[in-house]
Amino acid sequence: MAIRGIETHDDVVMSNTLFLTPWYTLLKFHDDPLGMLLRYGQSPDPVVPIRLGRWTLYLVTGPAEVGQVLSRHVQHYHKGPGMDRQNPLIGTGLLLSETPRWETSRRILKEEFLPAAVREKQLRMRQTIGIQLDQWHDGKVNVTEQLVLLTAQVAIETLFDFPAQGDAMTAVIDASQELMMFFYRRSRSFFRPLYSMPWPMNRKYWSAAKPLTGFAERIYARRASASAKLSALLEHLPSDERTAQIVTLLIAGHETTANALSWTLYLLARHQEAQNLARTDPEWLDAVIQESLRLYPPVWLLSRVSLEPVSLGSYRLPKDAPILLSPWVNQRLERYWDQPGEFLPERWIKRAPLPPFLYFPFGAGQRSCIGETLAHQEMRITLSLILSRWTLEPASDDEVLPLPLLSLKPKNGVWIRLAPR
Ligand code: HEM
Repeated sequence: MAIRGIETHDDVVMSNTLFLTPWYTLLKFHDDPLGMLLRYGQSPDPVVPIRLGRWTLYLVTGPAEVGQVLSRHVQHYHKGPGMDRQNPLIGTGLLLSETPRWETSRRILKEEFLPAAVREKQLRMRQTIGIQLDQWHDGKVNVTEQLVLLTAQVAIETLFDFPAQGDAMTAVIDASQELMMFFYRRSRSFFRPLYSMPWPMNRKYWSAAKPLTGFAERIYARRASASAKLSALLEHLPSDERTAQIVTLLIAGHETTANALSWTLYLLARHQEAQNLARTDPEWLDAVIQESLRLYPPVWLLSRVSLEPVSLGSYRLPKDAPILLSPWVNQRLERYWDQPGEFLPERWIKRAPLPPFLYFPFGAGQRSCIGETLAHQEMRITLSLILSRWTLEPASDDEVLPLPLLSLKPKNGVWIRLAPR
């Protein structure tokens, strides 16, 4: 499987010299961040400075250094570029907030994401997914579009026990897509005030925020009659963050899982043998999921900023140094993986545990994904139900390119031909 833009170590050396000026590098980064990060990742150094315009960012690829930032020395870092705590809608939610606020909310909310609590949601999840799949039809289907709907429905029903159907669901999904696009553009902008002015684009954002906050308020108001414990747990949080937590969980909980499932179906449609094995053998199904998350990690980039001068690799980084950690890069480097561009689920079967921090599609350390177990359960159920109903074939021979927005999306969606079994 070809990787766009992969070049040699010499290109990396060259791009850090006069041949590519920092401003040119900035333009290239905006044009093809995936290819460019992968090229920088070829450098054997565990920390690679990247000059973009007048900024220097540090790409961390060494497992020990990734562990240092995400886990061992986590107190020296905050969320970095693009992760904006001032965000008026979700700034106080789990994804963006910092200690001490973050610590309290994570401790309270995590109860509903522990393995036993997730197992309790299994039956409800299976029913919701089954009902969604009843609406799929045979033949050519844009599964990405359908999966966004499915995962949003699962998040709303299994996390909050909230009855949302039809137009209400569509409004929530449209609003969250609109918002994610806005957050993405804002995260790439080097002049944030542009995104606070009352221009049509920003007004569109505010109008998209309204249905979501309204929806979150309705979910909270209904907590006494909901069977989902999460709604009740929200009562223990400060009132100014309840809406942010609900919106965070809705947004973080559905788009990532929808993209992970889309990429998995894309790979399964192109690998019939793996598809047959995954249909009958749960170990293979898990291996397929792991391998799909390796090749197409929905959260392709994590960012941090140093709170004080820190030593990382052979560098002494100043305070406020922007740091990038990328599952996309680390999970595709030849020095860590055999045939890194190939889809080989068998590499996960009965293998010795991996060294830590080579593979981190759900992040790592204390800020790792709170929904990891839930997402795995949802993926397993969705894939096994799809595979029991249909045989998957690619609807076209064209390679689907990854589009690196906030989450790694299949460009133009994944189209699959579903043949009934
Ligand atoms: C395949 C699906 C998913 C992937 C690949 C994924 C990936 C990630 C990653 C990499 C992070 C860490 C971000 C960082 O360190 O900056 C994260 C955080 C988070 N995820 Fe997920 N996620 C998925 C599904 C979910 C689901 C289903 C939920 C909730 C229902 C969820 C909720 C969150 C939240 C709230 C955080 C912030 C946690 C914190 O900082 O305490 N995610 N996710």
